[in-house]
Amino acid sequence: MTKDDQMAFEMALGARAAAVEGQLRQILDGRPLVAEIVRPERLMAAMRHGVLNGGKRLRPFLVTESAALFSADGEAALRIAAALECVHCYSLIHDDLPAMDNDDLRRGQPTVHKAFDEATAILAGDALLTLAFDIVADEATMLPAERRAALVLALARAAGAGGMVGGQTLDLEAERIRPDEAGIIRLQAMKTGALIRFACEAGAIIAGAAPSDRERLAEFGSAIGLAFQLADDLLDLTADARQMGKATNKDAAAGKATLAALHGPVWAREQLHGLIDQAHALLEPYGEAAELLKQAATFVATRSS
Ligand code: IPE
Ligand code: IPE
Ligand code: MG
Ligand code: MG
Ligand code: MG
Repeated sequence: MTKDDQMAFEMALGARAAAVEGQLRQILDGRPLVAEIVRPERLMAAMRHGVLNGGKRLRPFLVTESAALFSADGEAALRIAAALECVHCYSLIHDDLPAMDNDDLRRGQPTVHKAFDEATAILAGDALLTLAFDIVADEATMLPAERRAALVLALARAAGAGGMVGGQTLDLEAERIRPDEAGIIRLQAMKTGALIRFACEAGAIIAGAAPSDRERLAEFGSAIGLAFQLADDLLDLTADARQMGKATNKDAAAGKATLAALHGPVWAREQLHGLIDQAHALLEPYGEAAELLKQAATFVATRSS
């Protein structure tokens, strides 16, 4: 990817981020819905702090761009993108808690438990997780009911005990029980890979694409999910907090086993190139239409924040 291509991609990512943020703001500023009683203002403020605080919005980009690959309805895709970002932001709020990674800085700002308090941060995370399923299931997401149900199921599996939350559990254990390489790859496929895999697969579900396309997009998501966490671990090792908007050198300090730490930065960069090639090859059948998704794969692996 040339410097110009990279800049063009970052502009496209930024434009999409603005659209999804508009959607998120509208949802988080909304009045109580049918069957709700009141939305406590402190809770809502903490949720807004955890969501509307920057962020690359990469997962929403993957949802909307993989939906566009199959000419799906853009409005529906934007709502699914917003729902997934709610799950992602909840995972970050909880990841930063003192009982987990104990971080003070996220996206260049105080973490939610620092800006509010721990109990409010826990509850804001809980409410964002349930809000995500509300958004997907709501009739306002103008998709046939069976597609909304398929999205609820796939998102639940990606987020839950056998997906992101399970991966976070294995990740905490990895500070005590040093996993081997296969163990590290599995925990990363869960803690980070599962939501990124869902992001790509969701596009095919939204569009009602053929099962073979759904499987191909999910595989693409798995490849870039692995690349994403490998790049995160590499940046933890090599970048500084100002560049990242979050503390770095945390993994080594916690004695956490990561592939980047195990094999070093040179090996990690080689692996990342292999994963980009694998991801690009999976999109070959879609030709030009998949250009932005291919660029997203390159961005994931070569990003600097
Ligand atoms: C950070 O994700 C957490 C990991 C899964 C490694 P991102 O790097 O996508 O964070 P934001 O959303 O851009 O802040
Ligand atoms: C967090 O991984 C992954 C999830 C939140 C599910 P990390 O702990 O490495 O993420 P950062 O480095 O704090 O963003
Ligand atoms: Mg963590
Ligand atoms: Mg962390
Ligand atoms: Mg990290």
